[in-house]
Amino acid sequence: MSEAHLFAAKSFPEIYESALVGPLFRPFAEVLLERVAPRPGDRVIDVACGTGIVARVARERLGADAHIVGVDLAPPMLAVARSVDPSIDWRQGDATALPVSADERFTVLTCHQGLQFMPDKPAAVREMRRVLDSGGRLAIATWCSLAQLPEMQAFNAVVERHLGPIVDSRHSFGEAEALGALLTEGGFRDVGVEQLTRDVQFADGALFARLNAMAAIGMSEKGKAMSEAARAELAGQVASESQEVIAKATKNGRFLLPLSTRVAVAHAP
Ligand SMILES: C[S@@+](CC[C@H](N)C(=O)[O-])C[C@H]1O[C@@H](n2cnc3c(N)ncnc32)[C@H](O)[C@@H]1O
Repeated sequence: MSEAHLFAAKSFPEIYESALVGPLFRPFAEVLLERVAPRPGDRVIDVACGTGIVARVARERLGADAHIVGVDLAPPMLAVARSVDPSIDWRQGDATALPVSADERFTVLTCHQGLQFMPDKPAAVREMRRVLDSGGRLAIATWCSLAQLPEMQAFNAVVERHLGPIVDSRHSFGEAEALGALLTEGGFRDVGVEQLTRDVQFADGALFARLNAMAAIGMSEKGKAMSEAARAELAGQVASESQEVIAKATKNGRFLLPLSTRVAVAHAP
């Protein structure tokens, strides 16, 4: 897909779904689901579902009859999720007050790259416990800290040359100890945390640089004050200034970005 076509009149959730989910989020979502091994009869809830990749992979694994719910705070992300797979029960809501009634329970709960954005993480974990059956399986993934991801740091540094230091919330909860302690203190048992690393492959490194710049600009105070057109123009400029970083991550003509995430698993008591 050409860049001009990709960015023309598309919303952020549409670009996220068409450019990032396939190469980047889906491979990690598949591993996350493997960790909870969905089986027939499971009732699955995916918290912070975004455009819905984990729930959709669960549908592929479990078939048409499975009860699968996706919850997200952002209606525009859910609108894309609904348009891609209307068979899933997509619900708008906050992870700290899940839209799940007192008599509804799940056997599997996933949360892929969402927990790091939640200001009250213990409250989110309490809700996860409330909606899971006793013995229910949970898997949560949060990207590792930037200190462990030099390529991502280098891409962000190009944005920071324009906007000053950026607090990258995507990588703000990347320590295994903190993630494990959050679940243990939240009453979960059999808590384990692993690190998972994958080379993410993009057809075009400049496209990745531009998408990353869009996200990073949106997280900076100066970027938030800019108009949408100015942000888009800066993202394009950052992409063209990222050639050196792109070249370093390009092997045999393929842009390969190593990414690492924490994956926590646990059982509800
Ligand atoms: C990086 S996206 C990940 C989406 C999806 N899980 C995936 O793997 O593609 C993070 C998502 O977390 C959602 N989110 C952030 N805070 C939330 C909260 N408190 N409750 C529910 N969703 C939240 C955002 O709206 C966004 O869709």
